[in-house]
Amino acid sequence: MALDKELAAAFNDQVALELTSAHQYLALSAWLEKEGLPGMANWMRIQVGEENEHAMRFYRFLIDRNAAVVLKSIPEPKTEFATVVDVFRAALAAEQRVTAAINSLYSMATDVRDFASYPLLDWFVDEQIEEEATVQQIIDDLVRTDGNGHALLMLDRELGARVPTAE
Ligand SMILES: [Fe+2]
Ligand SMILES: [Fe+2]
Repeated sequence: MALDKELAAAFNDQVALELTSAHQYLALSAWLEKEGLPGMANWMRIQVGEENEHAMRFYRFLIDRNAAVVLKSIPEPKTEFATVVDVFRAALAAEQRVTAAINSLYSMATDVRDFASYPLLDWFVDEQIEEEATVQQIIDDLVRTDGNGHALLMLDRELGARVPTAE
């Protein structure tokens, strides 16, 4: 079944949104490097890889559905933050934006009865639950450190141990 035009446009927007997330995560990683928190920077850099991979899932889907891939420009990421917790709050805000976009893709796919989109979108619905929960947990941990340098160092070490998951 040919992909509905509006739905194809929304999938193309999603490619750009995932790349926008990747770009934002890279900026967050750079900020954390500058602040001397290499473990947290590592965690953000792994997110960059995941977001690029998400963009490629939508890209591949458009190709498999015989729809044109239309790449959009990526806006400049936010680079100024007052605190470490603000950096992770920016990550959470980006994830919430992506969740809303996935939900809207889902409802568009439902409207045009494009059942072939469901497995891809189901994967992303699950992924977004995990993404938001993980970032929220880090925010909670950061708030709990309450400016304690030792606790912050421990958290940096913990996030530094993250390795990319095999696809
Ligand atoms: Fe994503
Ligand atoms: Fe994400």
